[in-house]
Amino acid sequence: MTETIKPVRLAVLLSGSGSTLQNLLDRIGAGRLSAQVVAVISSRAGVRGVARAEAAGIPAQVIARKAYASSEEHSRAVLAALAPYQPDLIVLAGYMSLFVFGPEWTGKVMNIHPALIPAFCGQGFYGHHVHEAVLASGVKVTGATVHFVDGQYDHGPIILQETLPVTDDDTPDTLAERVQALERELYPRAIQLFAEGRLRIEGRRVRTLS
Ligand code: GRF
Repeated sequence: MTETIKPVRLAVLLSGSGSTLQNLLDRIGAGRLSAQVVAVISSRAGVRGVARAEAAGIPAQVIARKAYASSEEHSRAVLAALAPYQPDLIVLAGYMSLFVFGPEWTGKVMNIHPALIPAFCGQGFYGHHVHEAVLASGVKVTGATVHFVDGQYDHGPIILQETLPVTDDDTPDTLAERVQALERELYPRAIQLFAEGRLRIEGRRVRTLS
């Protein structure tokens, strides 16, 4: 029952096409996610994600990673730009920069990764590189992971994970398509659990309260 839950104020960080943002906006529009996207920040100029935000009437800013000497300085600028919007949760959605923050944001920043963490993840594992590595390794299952962010690439406590089979005739393209379909279900589910106050971090583990 999404209507009885107070909408969570989401800030979305992206660097590319914004298909993840679009999926969240579509879910919210359909009344299937108790959330409101209050701000979008892109670490790259000229990307489709910014155009999608603007088309939806959401304040969007480019804070280019390359304008800053370090991830720390860049992240500080991002957080300062978000402060007026008072987000409850920061969602990384195809964000290609390291996002680092202080303890006040622990448990309030999520990411989605197109593989089963702790495999096929970390710096350099993005987009098709992930699916190429999955195929080259010969594993028989892959999937998607939603996790809390802890200042390292693809590393924090895992919230949700789902698998799908790797078939003999899969290519990076076919895998990407099926993993993305999985992601479109998994990310809204994780955000809805957050909105309902049902996620508890216990060390490396995340407990889902019923
Ligand atoms: C997603 O597949 C996600 O796993 C990764 O970035 C991809 C989406 O990029 N983190 P975008 O939302 O289309 O820009």
